[in-house]
Amino acid sequence: MRLAFIVAVAFGLGVTTVANADEVALDPITGLKMAEDWELVRNNCTACHSAKLITQQRGSEAQWLGMIRWMQKKQNLWPFDPDTEGRIIGYLAENYPPQADRRRAAIPPDLQPPNPFAPATKTNTNKGEPDAGTSR
Ligand code: HEC
Repeated sequence: MRLAFIVAVAFGLGVTTVANADEVALDPITGLKMAEDWELVRNNCTACHSAKLITQQRGSEAQWLGMIRWMQKKQNLWPFDPDTEGRIIGYLAENYPPQADRRRAAIPPDLQPPNPFAPATKTNTNKGEPDAGTSR
């Protein structure tokens, strides 16, 4: 009974990871996109830290290379031969490319509670009342 449940859940997860044909399936262990050369990245990039550090990051080829050079200089990351490095950079820039804006937009002042610690400014004349459309 319990086994049947576990099997059902396992299959359920399996189906959801490959549900959309356009989307690349994720490795259930690292969360890396299982696109070409992903094992090269898993083998070289998850020894010191979680793959989450990679999957939450975005960058162009130059930006990814910059991060790798920084780790090689400061964090004891080993050197790569040019072919391996090129394939790792290619995978990263292809699957985790730059994105214009990954942060949520700032919350407009009129949707925030009054800030009693805000420095007094010319426009901040309200005394604990919600911002009534002062110029900002
Ligand atoms: C020898 C150890 C080591 C290996 C192997 C390694 N890293 Fe790192 N990496 C680090 C350390 C240490 C940090 C800093 C961790 C922290 O800030 O907590 C880091 C940070 C990062 C960050 C975060 C950078 C930022 O700006 O926040 C990314 C992205 C990253 N590594 C990607 C990779 C990739 C891609 C590879 C494979 C090419 C890799 N790492 C292999 C040691 C390593």
